[in-house]
Order: sequence, then structure tokens, then C-alpha cells
Amino acid sequence: MPQFPTLGHGTFDEEAPGVRLVFLGLALVPACFYSTESPLPADFATCEAPPEPGVSPAAPTYYRDVKPIVDRKCAGCHIADGVAPFPLTTYAEVELHKHQAQWAVEHGVMPPWQPADCCSDYRDDRSLSPDEIATFTAWVTAGAPEGDPADEPPAPPPAPDRLPRIDVDVQLAEPFTPSPRVGKDEIRCFLLPHTFAAATYVTGTDLIPSNRRIAHHAILVAVSGEKARELARKDGADGRPGWDCYGGADELDARGTIGGWQPGDSPRVFPDGVGAEVKAGTQLLLQMHYDTGAGTGADQPRVHLMLSDTVERVARGAPVGNPLWFAGEGMEIRAGDPDAMVFFSYDPTVVLGKGGPIDVESVMIHMHELGTIGRLAILRQDGTTECLLNILDWDFHWMTTYFLARPVRINPGDRLYVECHWDNTRENQKLVNGEQQEPRTIGWGADEEMCGGIIGFSEPVP
Ligand code: HEC
Repeated sequence: MPQFPTLGHGTFDEEAPGVRLVFLGLALVPACFYSTESPLPADFATCEAPPEPGVSPAAPTYYRDVKPIVDRKCAGCHIADGVAPFPLTTYAEVELHKHQAQWAVEHGVMPPWQPADCCSDYRDDRSLSPDEIATFTAWVTAGAPEGDPADEPPAPPPAPDRLPRIDVDVQLAEPFTPSPRVGKDEIRCFLLPHTFAAATYVTGTDLIPSNRRIAHHAILVAVSGEKARELARKDGADGRPGWDCYGGADELDARGTIGGWQPGDSPRVFPDGVGAEVKAGTQLLLQMHYDTGAGTGADQPRVHLMLSDTVERVARGAPVGNPLWFAGEGMEIRAGDPDAMVFFSYDPTVVLGKGGPIDVESVMIHMHELGTIGRLAILRQDGTTECLLNILDWDFHWMTTYFLARPVRINPGDRLYVECHWDNTRENQKLVNGEQQEPRTIGWGADEEMCGGIIGFSEPVP
């Protein structure tokens, strides 16, 4: 039976039964989750005014105007042997791909950045500003002039490419070769060969794939020693390192998640004084998403961690979802439905905030390939809504955690809200071995769908 992974499989096993009861209790509160109408106001997250048209400098050149944009917003992935199909690091390379690149930036396809405008502000926003898009377009229209290398403005200090301090350096015990699949990532879970001898806090994480062509996305989860022993039984059972965890109970674990990674990311450091708790005996589970459409070969990822014995606040993750979805009810995505939708809300302050407010620091939505729209919001007690994440063009490939530029407070009486939409028509089915699959009525589960919000927050050390 499909089960909601988060509740029974957190790091902090002894908390699980209580949390599970509370979530089931909360599920009985909202009366309207079978409705097909979103309770969000019609003007939810719409921009107050149309965006100002972008302005480009007169007679833009590559060195003066375009290279600084491409270096900051594209070259993290478009490097030799990177995840992107071609490098964009020299004039010749950018010139060669200029028409394709113009199309991709004008249509918002590149850089990959899913949150829609006018919802919230995020750290490390890699999207292009209207001025940057206008500059790129004006440059291509003018015939892509190279200009003078001496005109290149001084580069801002590069983002650090490693953690300030590396306390744990652990690599997958043996390389893993994803099998080529058409139109689908291979999602594989691994236990990393490192056990925490004593309780501590993780204050920074970094992932270094050995094969950047195929590594598309990673999630790092802390699992208790007991859970690790249970998972070790699956490890290698099919003759390959790790185990297949697509749609499985290990796929989505809000409470144990301590880090995530996407191509182009810098190492992630928690805000000052914040860390994720790991207890003695904890092991690390690494969930890798491999895109075998982008390259071949094996990968043997490394994980770097920065640790601290003391912190002021503990980082926590919490799920936003209806337990009835994975208990087999309330989440039916009918074959042929162009816009199947579910939503759910609850007041997280009761349990997670122990009756006090919660400051949300990061947000994420999790669906599979049929997803189209994903939203997280706060339904305020006074009837207003505050947008946390609004993805209008879901792409499973680019799922990631978004850090809010400023924490957003949920007060007692407010409700945390998640909404997912799917397109289950024939046109939106996966290609398997070149063949379009027939739509089927599905619910929650492996090879079916999921709708999970995850919020990250921190609370004072008890
Ligand atoms: C986070 C990594 C990343 C960043 C940043 C990024 N790209 Fe890409 N790009 C990719 C990947 C991966 C592909 C291959 C197609 C895919 O997976 O979506 C791609 C494909 C492309 C393509 C081919 C589009 C197509 O239709 O196949 C163009 C053009 C492109 N990128 C231009 C850019 C430009 C210009 C920038 C910066 C403004 C940029 N990219 C930033 C990862 C990235």
C-alpha cells in the first residue's frame, strides 16, 4: 500500500507515532478537500502591474554587456562536461548558440527557474531580469558584436565553490551506472558510508557528483541507525549499488531532509547559528536523480558537510499534505482529466510551533511528471492569503528547495496551504521506449503521483 513517507520514516523515530496521530487528527478538520474549486482568491499572486519593459544599453557588446550576464546566470551549468548540452563560456560558444539562447531566455525556459513572479522573493534567484533579457535580445538583433575584451566589467567575487570548513567528506562506496531510460529520471537511493558517532548539528552541505553530465538533482536525508539497518537490506538487492526509490517511502522525507542540490548550486550553508540536528548513530541517505538523456557513464558522488557542536536554532522540515491522499482516498487523478486538482491546509503552529508562531525559511513542492501547477501559501486568520511558492509550469526535472529572502511568519490560527494540479490527458503521458503511454486513473504512489509541500523552519534549541 502506498504510504506517506514522512510520517513513519523521520530521523527522530520516537516522535513519529505522536506526529502521525496529530496529522491524522488534523486531516479530519477541513471539510472541503473533495471540492474541485480552489479556495484561493481569483487574484492570488497576480502582479499588481504588468512588468516594465526591459531596457538594454545602447549598442550592447559581448564583453561589456552579455558576458557578465551569461557568466552569472548560465555558466554554472553550461560549462565543459556540465549538465547542460553545450558550454557558454567564450564568445565563440555564445555566438554559436545565440538564436537558440535568445528563444530560451525570452520564453523563460532558461535559466531553469520555476517560481512565478509576484509571489515571494527568494535567495539565489537565478532568473533573468527584464533588463537582462532585453540586453540579450538587443545584442543578438545587432548581429552579436564581440566588442573589446578590455570593456569587460570587473567580475563580482565568485560564489564560494566549497564550504568554509569541511568536517565530513564521504563518497559513495562504489560507482553507480544509471540505466538508460527514455523520458524519465532514474531515482536511486544510497546509504553513505558514514555514521555519526556523537550527536551534532549539520550547518552546511555540498554535493559533488563525479559525473556532472547525468546528475540532475539530489536530496540528503538523515536516517536513524535503526532505519539505516532496515534500508541496508534493500541496498544492492537488485545487483546494483543502492535501491530504486522512485515513488517509494524513501522518496520524500520532510523531517529528515538536511540538504538538497541542483546543478549550478553553490554549497549550502544554513543561516548563522542554525543547524540540522543529527543524533548519535545517524546515517546519511543520498537520493540522486539521474537524467540519462543528458549523458552516460557512472557517477560516484561525494558529500561534504560542515558541522557544529552547538547552535542556537535547530533546522526542521515539515510536510504539507493530506494524510488521506496516501491512505488511498481523496487523491484521484482521473484518466483524461486535463486539470485534476487537490488542496489541503492545516494550522502547523499547534504541533510544530508548540502553540507559538513558525518562521518559514524555505519552501518546496513535490509532484511527479504529470504535475502542472504547484502552490504553497498561508491562509491568514484575517482572510488574506500570502503566497510562498507559485509554480505555474511544473517541470519534475527542476524540482528544488527555494529559500525565502526573508523568513515569513505563520501565526497561531493561520493555515498552511498546498495545492497541486495535474494534466492526465493522453498528450501529457510519458514516452516509454518511444511510445506514448495511455492515461490511467491514478492516485498516490510509486509510478503514480504525489502532492507534497515541504517547509523548512528553525526553532530554538530545546
Ligand atoms: C541550472 C543549470 C542551467 C542553467 C543555470 C542554465 N541552463 Fe541552459 N540548459 C541546462 C540543461 C540541463 C539543458 C538541457 C535541456 C534541459 O534539461 O532542460 C539546457 C539547455 C539549454 C538550451 C537548449 C534549449 C533547448 O530547447 O534544448 C539553451 C539555448 C540554453 N540552455 C541556454 C541557457 C542560457 C542562455 C542560460 C543563462 C541565461 C542557461 N541556459 C542557464 C541547464 C542550465
